[in-house]
Amino acid sequence: MALQRRGNVKTADTSTIEKQSKRVITQTSSYRGYTALLLAFIGTCALLTWICSVWTNDITETMVSRGEILTQPRVFMVQCSEDYQKYKHFPDVLSSGCTPTKCGRAVSDSVVTADEAQTLKRLAEKGLALGGSDGGASILDLHSGALSMGKKFINIYRYFNKQIRDIFTEDDFKLYRAVRSRIQRVIAETFGLDSSNLYLTKPTFFSRINSTGAKTAHDEYWHPHIDKVTYGSFDYTSLLYLTDYDVDFGGGRFIFMDPNSNQTVEPRAGRVSFFSSGSENLHHVEKVAWGTRYAITVSFTCDPDYAIADPSLP
Ligand SMILES: *[C@@H]1O[C@H](CO)[C@@H](O)[C@H](O)[C@H]1NC(C)=O
Ligand SMILES: *[C@@H]1O[C@H](CO)[C@@H](O)[C@H](O)[C@H]1NC(C)=O
Repeated sequence: MALQRRGNVKTADTSTIEKQSKRVITQTSSYRGYTALLLAFIGTCALLTWICSVWTNDITETMVSRGEILTQPRVFMVQCSEDYQKYKHFPDVLSSGCTPTKCGRAVSDSVVTADEAQTLKRLAEKGLALGGSDGGASILDLHSGALSMGKKFINIYRYFNKQIRDIFTEDDFKLYRAVRSRIQRVIAETFGLDSSNLYLTKPTFFSRINSTGAKTAHDEYWHPHIDKVTYGSFDYTSLLYLTDYDVDFGGGRFIFMDPNSNQTVEPRAGRVSFFSSGSENLHHVEKVAWGTRYAITVSFTCDPDYAIADPSLP
């Protein structure tokens, strides 16, 4: 009995093992099924992600990120628009001319040092502290003296007269001129021009932007626009950034808008971006989401009639 029982037990054991191994086999084959399904799923996801990334890269490309430091200008040439045909060409001789025949956009981090950017930012802070727009965007134009004040502008040179010397120094203005002339040179080199054919033009100004909403049309900096259309005199536009994207402020990236893609420049203190001012460089600035963004717009014309002088203290 005892033996038999043991035998029976054995039989039971064996059949259990058989059943279990059968179950294992069935499970393994269903695992294979799952694995195949999972692989197919992962494959599809990967393919979709790839298609998506190719698609989004096509839509928005970072031309220069904030973290990068460019020792040489990064240049993208684009075909010139017909905008320039509507204007007189300068100078008449085409060799080493000025009116854009080569168009494009470029960014360089080696035109202005971090220290210089810091000094210019302090200059902007001191000047803009004298006024400021009710909305989120204020400007200070050292050439004309225009400063945002509430919903209007005042002329700091008229308003403060000689007392403005308590705020700005000769050294501030010397640095401003030096930086302007270096930007002019890098534009001339990049577009193959004679630097002396380029003239500073207006408006050339400091800007301070935060996330406060617009109160007047002057505060609406984010609309897509073409500089040559907005200001007929512009032929080359440059921007010198004085604060860092993602560190000092969020949003506020500069975006070149092409028919099927966008190219983004992330501001970095001391970074200069410059471009031909026609429709080939339609652009806008994203709304600033937080923090404060400081920059200087420095504009150049080929038409001596629109030239302005460097600013000087009264
Ligand atoms: C470019 O950016 C603008 C605004 O940021 C957006 O409306 C437009 O759809 C973008 N264009 C492309 C092709 O992604
Ligand atoms: C933005 O700047 C204005 C001055 O132009 C100031 O009144 C406002 O409080 C600032 N907003 C923020 C969110 O810091």
